[in-house]
Amino acid sequence: MGDLPWWKRGVVYQIYPRSFMDSDGDGIGDLQGIIDRLDHLADLGVDAIWLSPIQPSPDADFGYDISDYCDVHPQYGSLETFDALVAACRERGLRVVLDGVFNHSSDEHAWFQESRQDRAGPKADWYLWRDGRGGPGQTGAPNNWASTFGGGGWEYAPERQQYFFHSFLKKQPDLNWREPAVVDAIEGVLRFWLERGVEGFRLDVFNCYLKHPELPSNPRTWNPAGLLYPYIGQRHLHDRDQDDMGIALSMMRRVADERPGRFLVGETLDEDRRYREAAGYAGSGEDQLHLAFNFHLLRSRWGAKAFHTAIMAWTQALGPDGWATWVLSNHDFPRHASRWGGRWADARCRLVAILAMTLRGTPFLYYGEEIGMREHTPPRAQIQDPVGKRFWPVHRGRDGCRTPMQWEEGASAGFTSGQPWLPLHPDHAGRNAAAQRGDPGSVLSTYRDVIALRRRSPVLQAGDMDLPEQPHAKVLSYRRSLGDASVQVLLNMSPQPQRWPAGAERHLLYGTHPGRPAELEDGEILLAPHEGLVLGNEPG
Ligand code: NOJ
Repeated sequence: MGDLPWWKRGVVYQIYPRSFMDSDGDGIGDLQGIIDRLDHLADLGVDAIWLSPIQPSPDADFGYDISDYCDVHPQYGSLETFDALVAACRERGLRVVLDGVFNHSSDEHAWFQESRQDRAGPKADWYLWRDGRGGPGQTGAPNNWASTFGGGGWEYAPERQQYFFHSFLKKQPDLNWREPAVVDAIEGVLRFWLERGVEGFRLDVFNCYLKHPELPSNPRTWNPAGLLYPYIGQRHLHDRDQDDMGIALSMMRRVADERPGRFLVGETLDEDRRYREAAGYAGSGEDQLHLAFNFHLLRSRWGAKAFHTAIMAWTQALGPDGWATWVLSNHDFPRHASRWGGRWADARCRLVAILAMTLRGTPFLYYGEEIGMREHTPPRAQIQDPVGKRFWPVHRGRDGCRTPMQWEEGASAGFTSGQPWLPLHPDHAGRNAAAQRGDPGSVLSTYRDVIALRRRSPVLQAGDMDLPEQPHAKVLSYRRSLGDASVQVLLNMSPQPQRWPAGAERHLLYGTHPGRPAELEDGEILLAPHEGLVLGNEPG
């Protein structure tokens, strides 16, 4: 337990910088804004902030298209503001984790501009270039690879008379990780930020870094939707998850491990369908990441059985020595308060707060989830996300989960004195951090209380976890144990009361409903609708 690194014990809080806090009135969040609101995070009790990309970017994909890896986007501040943020975090015991977007850069990055100009220049092979199908100077995509964001994955560049590949937008050309100079360049980028005090990276779609060296077409599948959206009409055998991923990952692991306490967490594209592969990327091996994400739970429907299945699947895939990550919401999916919410949204938000903080593994919170922020998709004319623009109304994009943080009462909920870049959720006058801070039954208080419980509980940080073989239909239950100490978690996920036999754990460590005695009696526990209990065999 003593040697458990902070990124296993702790809680990571994701900030989407455009939407967290605007300090200069331009309607877009910035680094000074984050500094101004750090006390909220210290009070919440999280251990680290992960910033979605902060580097210069034309914002075709809002920062996930970086045009200079070693600088700060002027709209967010400067390298000096970044240094001030790191210092302000340290004062509060918070660490800083950055998004590493290294599968692709922006097409406006100097590397790509140079690569596009010249087939023979020093950066000619830094991206995935190929002649057209008919040969040099001919058109026709080199293979059938598709873009995750719709359409084909190849774009013709007249300057080079060749095609380049992009897994996402055509403004996001994929880097060629088989070119050793690219590996060296990314190593330089990692070092640049680590030397400025960064303590970890979340790696964007890292399993796409390496492609099959000969770029063969992927086999097609019989999915009629593939006609409209070619990406899902094929098996992705050759455009990701290659056996020699170690080319990239061993460099990253080596650099990260030069100092204890640093970590890498990978976002595996499409891993919710292939969580065994995702699990294989995380571990203590030389070419593994420290952690990998899994979104199986996030994608589950509400219910004790469905959650049980998702938790089992991920933990079993990781194995007894593996370490899970738990994500309920992020910047790519509808917020869970709306996904699982309905009439009981706040009660459900409180239950999953307990869940995230008491499962074995590292929880990643998404800004606003601590106040139960709801999804709010703007009208079509105001959509900003390229995915929403392209696929409306089939997919209305990701703006709905990126609306400004709701801080307090007032015109823009304290987010900005200007015009916010996305419209706020109309419920902000009632739902905001200030209003919830002093209310012991609020979502915010629940998060703060269960994070504090996790902080003082070695069992919750490091203990083993046992889920019953046969899940209960309404109550999600599991037991954590470490030495003689044990904790039982009971989450009544239904709107009806449920009976539960009392076990060895009778001390109330946390409960969602007021009025429970500090020590429970023998016999049965009658759980109220949507009641959550954390019980210990020792007082907490
Ligand atoms: C995954 C990120 O989470 C998403 O927001 C982004 O659009 C794509 N990768 C491309 O970088």
